[in-house]
Amino acid sequence: VTEPDLKGRHVVVSAGGTREPLDPVRFLGNRSSGKQGYALARTAAARGARVTLVAANTTGLPDPAGVDVVQVGTAVQLREAVLKAAAEADAVVMAAAVADFRPATYAAGKIKKQDGQDPEPVVLIRNPDILAEISADRARPGQVIVGFAAETDDVLANGRKKLQRKGCDLLVVNEVGERKTFGSEQNEAVVLGADGTETPVPYGPKEALADMVWDLVAERLG
Ligand code: PMT
Repeated sequence: VTEPDLKGRHVVVSAGGTREPLDPVRFLGNRSSGKQGYALARTAAARGARVTLVAANTTGLPDPAGVDVVQVGTAVQLREAVLKAAAEADAVVMAAAVADFRPATYAAGKIKKQDGQDPEPVVLIRNPDILAEISADRARPGQVIVGFAAETDDVLANGRKKLQRKGCDLLVVNEVGERKTFGSEQNEAVVLGADGTETPVPYGPKEALADMVWDLVAERLG
């Protein structure tokens, strides 16, 4: 039996991977399936929270029951949806893989290859850092903000630096691997707290990691 310890709380979860269009048929994207974010949304709803799920390109995943789902495509759209929902939220969990950069220009027609010519380089510009922005400028006093970090090397050291840089309360550090993180049903992580705490979560279903995140959020909400 799940305790309704998030009853009366409104939480926002972002899930999936943004796609940054180059032309009407191509985009720059990443391997996020949305499964970790959906597990967070389902478990929060099961614990009694009102949940807004901002979903980027999570085709194929069913909308979790009783959750408000807002579909977005790009990082700029994800920012708009998260800022809007965060205005009235007790907690925000950013599980989405958001593109740091987007193509500087969008070609209205399909980019064609020219016979005998090298391709034009793709020029990138910076996307807004949503997690850093909502952490620096809290919509409500006491709002709890959680980030995620998928790392391949020096996982914990990079995670600690990222926690500082982003200014969030908790950062879930997961290592990119064969049977975990992107796309799989399982994950394994260490949750770093801005207060210096470190909570390891062993390899298991994404719901188990999600429940640990909500335990830590509930503690901080008091
Ligand atoms: O979707 P799944 O297939 O289940 O996979 C889950 C996951 C691997 C995508 C998830 O567990 C995860 O780790 N998500 C974060 C991926 C990542 O590498 O993020 P990052 O290091 O680029 O960004 C760190 C944090 O800042 C994230 O919370 C991200 O949402 C946020 N961010 C990043 C860039 C940006 N411009 N704005 C942001 O808000």
